[in-house]
Amino acid sequence: GATLILGVAGAGLYFWNTTAIDTTGQVTFDRSLQIPPLAESTVAEDGTRVFDLTMQRGTSDLGHGPDTQTWGVNGDYLGPTLRATRGENVRVNVRNEVGETSTLHWHGMHLPAAMDGGPHQSVEPGATWSPQWTIDQPAATLWYHPHLHGSTASHVYRGLAGLFLLDERDDPELPDEYGVDDVPVIVQDKKFDGTQLDEDGAIFANVGILGDEILVNGTPGAFLDVTTERVRLRLLNASNARIYNFSFDTGLPFDLIGTDGGLLESPVALRSLQLSPGERAEIVVEAPAGTRNVLRSTPPDLRADFWQTRFSGGDDSVDVLELRAADTLESNEPVPARLATLEDLGEPTVTRTFDLTSSTEINNRAMDMNRIDEVVVAGTTELWEVTNISGVVHNFHVHDVQFQVVEATGMPTDHPTLTGRKDTVYVPPGATVRLLMRFDDHTDPNVPYMYHCHLLRHEDDGMMGQFVVVGAEEVDQVGVLSVHSA
Ligand code: C2O
Ligand code: CU
Repeated sequence: GATLILGVAGAGLYFWNTTAIDTTGQVTFDRSLQIPPLAESTVAEDGTRVFDLTMQRGTSDLGHGPDTQTWGVNGDYLGPTLRATRGENVRVNVRNEVGETSTLHWHGMHLPAAMDGGPHQSVEPGATWSPQWTIDQPAATLWYHPHLHGSTASHVYRGLAGLFLLDERDDPELPDEYGVDDVPVIVQDKKFDGTQLDEDGAIFANVGILGDEILVNGTPGAFLDVTTERVRLRLLNASNARIYNFSFDTGLPFDLIGTDGGLLESPVALRSLQLSPGERAEIVVEAPAGTRNVLRSTPPDLRADFWQTRFSGGDDSVDVLELRAADTLESNEPVPARLATLEDLGEPTVTRTFDLTSSTEINNRAMDMNRIDEVVVAGTTELWEVTNISGVVHNFHVHDVQFQVVEATGMPTDHPTLTGRKDTVYVPPGATVRLLMRFDDHTDPNVPYMYHCHLLRHEDDGMMGQFVVVGAEEVDQVGVLSVHSA
């Protein structure tokens, strides 16, 4: 039967525990996958596309009755999918009705630091924050979530998160009918205490919340009726700490077409795919007519094979989503052989090193809102070398940029999941990743961007640092932070 893997890390060693997902050990796929609605927008006179988002409290049926208290954006749980095209100006009016200070961060977005929605752009209860920027990056599956320092884990866990899809005018021909053959798959694990979410549900305090039930787009036991020959799934790991190694129970292969920052140059056929928290992948699946294929997470051989991490136990898998292909499928175009051309990031002139020294510190320092850790000069290509010496699993996320993984010890960088642009990368114990990134514009000596571990407990506990991007002539001006607020 299907059981759930609880991946936890301790003292340089992974170990895997299993726990039954329910009394029979089987996930029953009895609910149709909910699709987050596309966010409505208006176009202002100057052409700016305007979205209105309200972070609010509600109740949801997450499989434990209708009265589970949750948070959502324009609804009870999760939020609508925002969508904009490269070159567009967007403004998002973010209203906070959750009764506590929060923020809303645009994960993966290249934009001015003051619009980023990080810990310095707090939105007080009852207030509205209205960041505005120009979409200036390739088509991609991005997402949004709160980023209040110390509260990110609980605010995301309660349900504040959603997708932000970017398009380009000359997108290649791919399945793109939202909710039909282009489907968001937001994967989260939850733990319940009776009818309520159990926020203290850590089985191992170090990594934070690990749930024993899976929701996709807020739906427990979800199935998706597939009506077309090919379906594009936009996978987002929006879990607080859990790492997934996705595959189909039938062994069905799929094409990986994109990672965090956008499309790959060419599709790559895979049978499994790992995502750590915050990472995304776009895949195109051809499920034969009349078949059922269960997307599930299995113990991650990627890590066993490439990272040579030690494992024990864990032969079982956790079921995520059942694809039910209709007996007759409508045709849609095959995936083109060429998807995108990645921009040359140039040669690095600056190298920085980041040691992941513990689950609360980077380079032996905990996050300090009043300290700038790194000063980057705009127009520069840099190499960031991140080494996990903590003995505990982490990943590494950088705001504002999409980087290229040029080296990852123990793992070939021509591995398909590392060939595209990324903003979050898995860094298991002992590993070093070298990340090439270019900082183009959006200088501001007073407002920092963040880099951090995306295991949300770690981020909240201080495993985060701040960098500013400045013009060459501004380097001297970086001093004590003036905290920006709405
Ligand atoms: Cu998804 Cu700094 O976060
Ligand atoms: Cu971490």
